[in-house]
Amino acid sequence: MITLKINGANRQFDGDPEMPLLWYLRDILDMTGTKFGCGAGLCGACTVHVDGAAARSCTTAMKDAAGKSITTIEGLSAHGDHPVQKAWMANNVPQCGYCQSGQIMQAAALLKDKPKPTDNDIDQAMQGNICRCGTYQRIRQAIKQAAGVKA
Ligand code: FES
Ligand code: FES
Repeated sequence: MITLKINGANRQFDGDPEMPLLWYLRDILDMTGTKFGCGAGLCGACTVHVDGAAARSCTTAMKDAAGKSITTIEGLSAHGDHPVQKAWMANNVPQCGYCQSGQIMQAAALLKDKPKPTDNDIDQAMQGNICRCGTYQRIRQAIKQAAGVKA
């Protein structure tokens, strides 16, 4: 039996320990805010926080999530009012939106570690999050706004 916390709630899982955390979130808990993109750790669409750090849920097996505290886009803030979410709205960042929950989770983890990130910090943190719509400029602008640093 695997026990873990999802968005603050205790959960138990007795299925395949090799199953990706992403399947558990989407197919069992019905938390579909976390997206499936590549399934191979290459796009960032499935990004969640594992014990506060950004992680790819498509390549995190359930056995590796055991005992951990997972936060998904649904649990990032109570009312969609995390500073990163507010900056995303203010800058109209999303286009199709598919990559955006992953982008937001990655950006939120960055700002938790580095509240005043440099351009280089942003590049390093966000480079694995792909946006096929090319919203990169607005993503950078919104991160800077959320951090209160000059764009
Ligand atoms: S779906 Fe997980 S990194 Fe692409
Ligand atoms: S907004 Fe469409 S993939 Fe990023």
